[in-house]
Amino acid sequence: MSKPEAIYRQDYQPSDYLIHTTELSFELFENETLVTAKVHYYQNPKVKNPPNSLFLNGKNLELIEILIDGFQPDYQLKNDGLQLKNLPADFVLEITTKIHPETNTSLNGLYKTSGNFCTQCEAHGFRQITYYLDRPDVLSVFTTRITADFKRYPILLSNGNLLENQPGTATWFDPHPKPCYLFALVAGDLAVLQDTFTTKSGAEVALKIYVEKHNISKTKFAMESLKRAFAWDERRFGLEYDLEIYMIVAVDDFNMGAMENKGLNIFNSKYVLANPDTATDSDFINIEAVIGHEYFHNWTGNRVTCQDWFQLSLKEGLTVFRDQEFTSDLHARSIKRITDVKALRTLQFAEDSGPMAHPVRPESYIEMNNFYTMTVYEKGAEVVRMIHTLLGEAGFQRGLKLYFQRYDGQAVTIDDFVEAMSEANNFDFADFMAWYSTSGTPQIRIKNSANKITISQPDERLFPLKYGVLDCEGSELESGVLIMKGKQKQFDFSHLPADCRFSWLRDFSAPVKLKP
Ligand code: PHE
Ligand code: ZN
Repeated sequence: MSKPEAIYRQDYQPSDYLIHTTELSFELFENETLVTAKVHYYQNPKVKNPPNSLFLNGKNLELIEILIDGFQPDYQLKNDGLQLKNLPADFVLEITTKIHPETNTSLNGLYKTSGNFCTQCEAHGFRQITYYLDRPDVLSVFTTRITADFKRYPILLSNGNLLENQPGTATWFDPHPKPCYLFALVAGDLAVLQDTFTTKSGAEVALKIYVEKHNISKTKFAMESLKRAFAWDERRFGLEYDLEIYMIVAVDDFNMGAMENKGLNIFNSKYVLANPDTATDSDFINIEAVIGHEYFHNWTGNRVTCQDWFQLSLKEGLTVFRDQEFTSDLHARSIKRITDVKALRTLQFAEDSGPMAHPVRPESYIEMNNFYTMTVYEKGAEVVRMIHTLLGEAGFQRGLKLYFQRYDGQAVTIDDFVEAMSEANNFDFADFMAWYSTSGTPQIRIKNSANKITISQPDERLFPLKYGVLDCEGSELESGVLIMKGKQKQFDFSHLPADCRFSWLRDFSAPVKLKP
């Protein structure tokens, strides 16, 4: 075994080559799968003096054929990829690889579950399908052709809109440029629940939920949830869906909750299937929340994606915040908040004070799959929630609008997101950025001397501190949001009666520990 090597955030370099188009062709067999990728590469105009060589990621691939502009290229196979040399500035690479989904037990790349083919490409799964620039800042338009035995695999799915479908073959075209981690393919004998949603601009979207046949009776709630998610994102954020079809596939073998592949979400079946006779209230709420979460990624993650994997919380923190708001708007806001804060304080605070502690934006990783954590997701959502508290709903919406205006179709950073929030509101977030870069839960102290309040913290972070003041009968005298910054800050409440009581950190307005 070679020693695992760490990757550092500060080493980020844009890719020397970018990709115009990716045309994939899959021939699915029982003992092997052939993947042909025809990819149009071009030198990145933003890189000065780019080299005429290119390294493509690849893992567990058997190279069958390789051509550049129709000719044998100068290349070298490495154990983690393919080195191409003496390249022109613009070229079409055609590679055929043989892979083995039928024996792939990694739940990454193309694999089989209950006899059906499916994929998982986030974070680094696409390199197990073909040699490619497997990084989130290389976006391209994908065409995917699938051929398979019609009797065994009548349903053939991939991202985008369906171009052509005949028994045994289907071609999909996704017009939205995307990084390869959002690629998906499904082939199998599945039942489908169908519906439609008409967007506020009048486009009709076909909605499809694919499951194993015996589960079709348990899909109704998931479909209703999906329609609620479409409607809510239009209502609250003004965000509409952007393809003709939206598909969800439930599979039994899946590492996480679900995956937001463009137009073709793949779900762990426990977040789709609900037996109305046995499912509890919280089962239903969780299904609705995960369906919402993956749908909301269509804008926060897919239309605007991450420059590199250190920015994971850019999409996950923001999308968890959005799914929390979805549940809060549709159900009981206070119960949702109490549930989330309880989970944060027991699980994320523990993670943050133990050997696995890491900042919301980590500085290095060895295995990216180990960074899908409570800190990146849940603390990341708290950090977004603090921005929301500081700016208010209207200010937050202004910031998000600017974010989408500026970065739609691009791969960006957490700094870009905060910068958009900052510019749209003329609010200085410089002292806020420690929330992204520092691990651990800050302990704050609040001292009261005759209603002159002194708040102190270990470092100098900016955060919102919601409070209320009650009289001795329990009636509210005053409430608001204090903005804490610097190591120590004084707030004067001496206008209030001497025997009043303060209620601090309402709504858990910052992920801190309060020490009296
Ligand atoms: N991106 C998925 C989500 O949150 C989670 C996931 C990560 C799934 C990695 C599979 C692999 O919504
Ligand atoms: Zn997510």
